[in-house]
Amino acid sequence: MSSDWAENRPLTGKAAVVTGAGRGIGRSIALALAGAGADLAICSRTRAELEATQEAVADLGVRCFIGVADLSDPKATESVCNEILAEFREVHVLVNNAGAQLETGPVAESDPDRWWKTVEVNVRGPYLVTRFLLPGLADGAKIINLSSGVGLSAGNRNSSYHVAKSGLHMFTESLANELWPRRIDVNNLIPGPVATTNFTREAPGAATPDEVLERFGAETPPNFPPSERLKHPDEIGEFALYLATRPLGGPTGQTYSLARRPL
Ligand SMILES: NC(=O)c1ccc[n+]([C@@H]2O[C@H](COP(=O)([O-])OP(=O)(O)OC[C@H]3O[C@@H](n4cnc5c(N)ncnc54)[C@H](OP(=O)(O)O)[C@@H]3O)[C@@H](O)[C@H]2O)c1
Repeated sequence: MSSDWAENRPLTGKAAVVTGAGRGIGRSIALALAGAGADLAICSRTRAELEATQEAVADLGVRCFIGVADLSDPKATESVCNEILAEFREVHVLVNNAGAQLETGPVAESDPDRWWKTVEVNVRGPYLVTRFLLPGLADGAKIINLSSGVGLSAGNRNSSYHVAKSGLHMFTESLANELWPRRIDVNNLIPGPVATTNFTREAPGAATPDEVLERFGAETPPNFPPSERLKHPDEIGEFALYLATRPLGGPTGQTYSLARRPL
């Protein structure tokens, strides 16, 4: 992480909500934002993982509120968003990061409930969190939605995830159109392949991103073209911080990609 962020702490006094911040990309984004001075509200279903993230920012002098909820559930999500707004009067950065691939096979072998649940987690979740935090989003707030290259260009399996991320793209654009009068910027961030849960599964025994990266070495991540590179989640954290700190009037309704293949 660039030392400028740590020294200047441009997000001091601002509140950032990061969903799915218990592990993987969300954890790295939360750490990057907190390193730049932001107070945090972090959410997912697993309290122990959120507490580990909370502990990791304990020495940074920022507040860190934990909200445990299944963010595809409207009642639970409304309740946790209300708690966040009670804790922080205003939210300056919202990172809709929580996501999951619950179906990875072809349509012919898919389970209808898991197929639809994938759409719920990846699209309904970001919609619900945004919907319930909207009244508390500050003038000039930034919304960053964690999308995927497969939301722009589908593969030949895993259709529920592709449909979901494609829907998320359109949600980002709709929101950008709606929210510019409030000077709120809304953008997609496509990480490209990152050494988190999916790749942990393909590297048995490797628990952390560093261990996964070590296991893969210079190998191309499976099912990607040779130009692709498996990244550490901190690389995504750094880019999310860049987006979160754009000045007023910055880009909105755009898609930023860290992939290494044409999309
Ligand atoms: N890793 C990649 O290569 C890659 C590539 C492109 C896009 N992305 C996107 O990047 C985002 C982060 O992915 P990741 O790789 O960091 O995944 P990850 O390591 O599996 O982390 C996902 C996070 O989302 C939370 N989550 C999942 N379902 C949830 C639910 N129903 N309610 C609340 N929280 C939920 C998880 O916590 P709990 O399970 O405890 O709830 C976890 O904290 C996702 O949107 C993913 O689609 C990742």
